[in-house]
Amino acid sequence: MARRFYITTPIYYANDRPHIGHAYTTLLADVLARYHRLLGYEVFFLTGTDEHGQKVEQAAAKAGVTPQEHVDVYHLRFKELWEQLGVRYDHFVRTTDAQHKRFVAESMQELFARGEIYERKYEGWYSVGEERFFSDDELVDGKDPVSGNPVEWITERNYFFRMGKYKKQLLDHIERHPNFIQPDFRRNEVLGFLRNELQDLCISRPRARLQWGIPLPFDEEFVTYVWFDALLNYQSAVEGRSFSDGEAVWPADYHIIGKDILTTHAVYWPTMLLALGRPLPRHILAHGWWLSGGRKQSKSRGNVVDPLTYIARHGADTVRYFLMREMVLGQDASFTDELFVTRVNADLANDLGNGIQRVHKLVETHFQSAMPPPVAPGHSLKAGAAELELQAFAEGVLLTFVDQIVNLRLSFALEEVASLVRAVNRYLEHRAPWKLAKGGPDERAQLGSVLFSAAECLRIALSLLYPVMPERSRRGLSMLGVEDEPQESALRWGVLRGGERIVSGQALFPRIEGQAAGPADAAEAAALARTEAAKASQGKSTPAQQPGSTHPAAALEFRVATILSAEPHPNAEALFVLRLGVGTRERTVCAGIRKTYTSEQLVGKHVVLFANLKPAKLRGIESEGMLLAADSGGGPKLVDPGDIPPGSLLEFGSLRAQPKDRATLKDFERVPLEVRGGVVHHGDLPLSFGGVPVRAEGPDGTPVR
Ligand code: MSP
Repeated sequence: MARRFYITTPIYYANDRPHIGHAYTTLLADVLARYHRLLGYEVFFLTGTDEHGQKVEQAAAKAGVTPQEHVDVYHLRFKELWEQLGVRYDHFVRTTDAQHKRFVAESMQELFARGEIYERKYEGWYSVGEERFFSDDELVDGKDPVSGNPVEWITERNYFFRMGKYKKQLLDHIERHPNFIQPDFRRNEVLGFLRNELQDLCISRPRARLQWGIPLPFDEEFVTYVWFDALLNYQSAVEGRSFSDGEAVWPADYHIIGKDILTTHAVYWPTMLLALGRPLPRHILAHGWWLSGGRKQSKSRGNVVDPLTYIARHGADTVRYFLMREMVLGQDASFTDELFVTRVNADLANDLGNGIQRVHKLVETHFQSAMPPPVAPGHSLKAGAAELELQAFAEGVLLTFVDQIVNLRLSFALEEVASLVRAVNRYLEHRAPWKLAKGGPDERAQLGSVLFSAAECLRIALSLLYPVMPERSRRGLSMLGVEDEPQESALRWGVLRGGERIVSGQALFPRIEGQAAGPADAAEAAALARTEAAKASQGKSTPAQQPGSTHPAAALEFRVATILSAEPHPNAEALFVLRLGVGTRERTVCAGIRKTYTSEQLVGKHVVLFANLKPAKLRGIESEGMLLAADSGGGPKLVDPGDIPPGSLLEFGSLRAQPKDRATLKDFERVPLEVRGGVVHHGDLPLSFGGVPVRAEGPDGTPVR
């Protein structure tokens, strides 16, 4: 079988704040992509945003910006969340990308030329609010059945795709490929749908009603129906791309979707491809909904769980684990604070975290931090029954795990790992290494072998969990003396040999006391969590600070921001009015950098914002903060945060940031900043994030402000 894997997520509407439902779909795809990479596959993982259509047009109008401006900002929310969640995609497609628009127009033209698209007059009752037609019998008292608003009789021309004619071919395909639509009950749903007559699909929208779409190449008075545009992303994004063996990336191995968009993916999309004579995707997997309080998460219901709050408090990996472990693929699942706390405390804090901590501590204390070998030198000691049993357990899990993953039984696979970890803890209770440590030479020899067996099992568990918890797994592994990124070769018994140096780390999975999520500002807290994660992964410790004695530098809030737009200030020659993206929020800042930069040079640039500076009106426009720049004589040059992600809270050396609510220019002046060795410093302390310094131009001593 080919060792290549192309996996996609739906492209999300770029008019909304991402929530846990969107996060889940993308994480599921990320985890499956990572498992395939772990198993040695060459992977292409695609995600992106759906940027055309009425919803975007309306949202933009409401915000008083053009649709393009609107999506240019909104798609970033998704990108930022994926970064915070550790999602490693290969490409992010936007339906406003030139390549995509061209691809859609060409595909439409091709269908038109083949007679697969035709024009016809269309009449019906149209509801403006619902943006759709209703038939006579659908109306209730002559009104729109959904909103109860009046409807009007409209006659208009439109273009139709001959979808109906592909019904038989699609049915045959589903019959011949029993795994095409997963899980089985969703496949049956589609078969049920296809028992009825399959209508042709209206694929145009008159420009009079909708402007924001891709024009039909054969009739400029129309734009393309948003789904016809969106579905083609899966192909447009990989047009001309191939894997290293020369095989084209298309067709996709898996389209991962929520059950709400099954018909579009399992009926519209394959029939479009059949009409175009292109290969069909191999599998479509529809997962269930995340419910909260028994209902689908939705903005209008106000029961949306903000993933950022959870990431901020407990780290991305914990959230990733919970989501993957808790949802049986295909079924609905509940997200409640209580479930989150219970699951994380049981599986991660009590079992996995504890097991690793115990073994780590004993190796540190009794073996000078070097993993003991399975059998102590000079001893003819053989593995006892308990050791053999544990090894057999681990080998059993290894044997079934890959199978479970390939068959997408993810939550079950994770349950097996959890049971392996529980077995290690039972084994440790039974062999009581802490008692062996106090015994004579024979017991001491056994101690080494017990710790080895437990460590090897935990190493296997962590390697299997690596795609789900990439960062914590690596930390756990280094606590057991393993530094290499897990690969397929790690998935067997006997990789540890003894002698590995174990690396100290903080508690991997702290127990959650009380509620898991609180009212913390999500974006801020998320950046904080990243700071902590980055620190923890480097094994750095921060000096404890006394309450009430905040260092003046720690009281200032410096964050990485992205410049979204730059307009000249209407009343001040030297100033730009900048729109900044800071994590998931936006701000306006006036900056006196018109002498040194053009607006083209600024847009898209990453900068450092003094974010808790009290807002002030500058020539009539309120400025919410100030950008850091170094000036060695030639005018201000913005400092450069390099690869530090937008939203991140920066710190001075090992000084823990504790920004106050509002800072003044006086507070700022108490913390003189200057360039030293190309890095922004306060005294000896470099301004940085997780060890990555903020750079600035100018010789040593150049002031930064
Ligand atoms: N733009 C279309 C998809 C086009 S794909 C060619 C769209 N976008 S969406 O932003 O509404 O995202 C829908 C997807 O988000 C769902 O299919 C599902 O994957 C995910 N979810 C949204 N809410 C969800 C839950 N409450 N639970 C789980 N996933 C859900 O539809």
